[in-house]
Amino acid sequence: MIRITSDGVIRFECMPAQKMKFRSQRPLRLVLALMVGVAGVWLFTHCRDKQTDAGHRPIISFATVKPVLEALGDKLPPQLREPNEAKWKTWAQHEDDVVRGRLEQGALDSMINLLLFGTSFTTQPRVITMHDLHDPVVQSRVDDLLQGLRNPGRNERLIFLRNVLRRSGMDPDSSTGDEKTKTFVLENLRRVVQEQNTFREQFDEATHESDQQAELSKRSRMFHDRGISLDTTILSSFGIEGALRDMKDRAMLPVRSITRVAVIGPGLDFTDKGFGYDFYPLQTLQPFAVYDSLIRLGLAEPGKIDITAFDISREVLEHLRSAHDRAKAGENYVVQLPRESWPWVAEAVQYWRSFGSEIGEPAAPVQPPPALKGLETRAVAIRPDVILSCKPVDLNVVFEQVDRSDTRRFDLIIATNVFLYYDTVEQALALQNISTLLKPGGFFLTNDWLPGLPQIPMRSMGYTPVRYGESGDWGDNIFWWQRQ
Ligand SMILES: C[S@@+](CC[C@H](N)C(=O)[O-])C[C@H]1O[C@@H](n2cnc3c(N)ncnc32)[C@H](O)[C@@H]1O
Repeated sequence: MIRITSDGVIRFECMPAQKMKFRSQRPLRLVLALMVGVAGVWLFTHCRDKQTDAGHRPIISFATVKPVLEALGDKLPPQLREPNEAKWKTWAQHEDDVVRGRLEQGALDSMINLLLFGTSFTTQPRVITMHDLHDPVVQSRVDDLLQGLRNPGRNERLIFLRNVLRRSGMDPDSSTGDEKTKTFVLENLRRVVQEQNTFREQFDEATHESDQQAELSKRSRMFHDRGISLDTTILSSFGIEGALRDMKDRAMLPVRSITRVAVIGPGLDFTDKGFGYDFYPLQTLQPFAVYDSLIRLGLAEPGKIDITAFDISREVLEHLRSAHDRAKAGENYVVQLPRESWPWVAEAVQYWRSFGSEIGEPAAPVQPPPALKGLETRAVAIRPDVILSCKPVDLNVVFEQVDRSDTRRFDLIIATNVFLYYDTVEQALALQNISTLLKPGGFFLTNDWLPGLPQIPMRSMGYTPVRYGESGDWGDNIFWWQRQ
């Protein structure tokens, strides 16, 4: 997170994705998440024309969305007022393109995270507190980044960023293009600082809403016009495990009742949003974390879980496909689990310690660089059968429908840190689409507050407050929706 402190210092705070204020009043005793610094991850090309090759799914039919669009009334954008089939198709197609294009902006945000926190391309100290954009350390980091981009070696992140820069018209290999690239990087740094400050103001404004529902809604749409990040953290999976345990304890989820699971937006750990670790390979966690939790809680049986990972990011999907291919050849998938130095609650530490107990074996972790001396870390080698249970599928859950021939619906769908990138109309459309994917009685868990409508057969059943940090208000609410 980037914050201007009262003394005018621009500060990059080491904070994870979610922050929450706890309140004592019902019905919304707990106020949702301050999303800090989800600005995370680099991405790649996400232009529609390129992805079309991979085969897009059809836009949801007008008949399916019509009741929702009609109920949204004056919340609809002008192009969708008095909706009909033609208006819907044109708008939804265009918006799908726009959403996929926003991934590119997220990539540039990730470049800034890497610039400030990365240790793989520089020996300069990490910029946790930035006093000035012209700080010599920042300038040296920019120079080292440019140098790294010219000679990326096998550094996955630098290779990816080279492509991002090329698509933005830069040539990282040309010495004459260096100044242009440097200016571009610094412009993006300035933009990210400004965006974070605006975001901070918007967050504070939302806090002053008198109506708690309005406050929650505002906070859950905070990033609706920002670049879409791929970033992911183990803590969102800790939150999901807490919610599953809570629901099991209340007999809402019977033992061994879950076999089909969907994870919407599993993400990819490029440069962690809070601390910017880049000393280990790119990885994803959530689909495997949910498998681990379901077995640990007795809600599913080993070998009897199918997981579908829905995402719009080609990089996420390709990463999962490649892990799948390697698992077919008997290869484990090793995940690195650094534990941020921000103090976690004891339950989160316990979760971190036991992560993977049901899906793999402890492995030797990649050692952090000297700059991160003292960082606790562990690693887990996930078994091939677990990786093979997870199928990646390209789906924009807001606008596209899944293959009708696949009539098996899900028992459980989870999506964390996905819907805050959308506004009310898109959030309602996503909830409607999710209802078509769930079995009657099935559950959807999310940490974003979503607008329920009588026209959507999903009932809000409660939520689990989850605390991540020992200090104050860092945490999440995991909302439970049930398919009617
Ligand atoms: C910030 S990451 C969250 C990762 C992970 N769920 C977590 O909480 O740690 C957001 C993810 O959602 C995906 N995503 C965003 N919009 C989506 C949509 N409309 N349909 C499917 N996936 C989407 C992004 O590509 C990305 O992988």
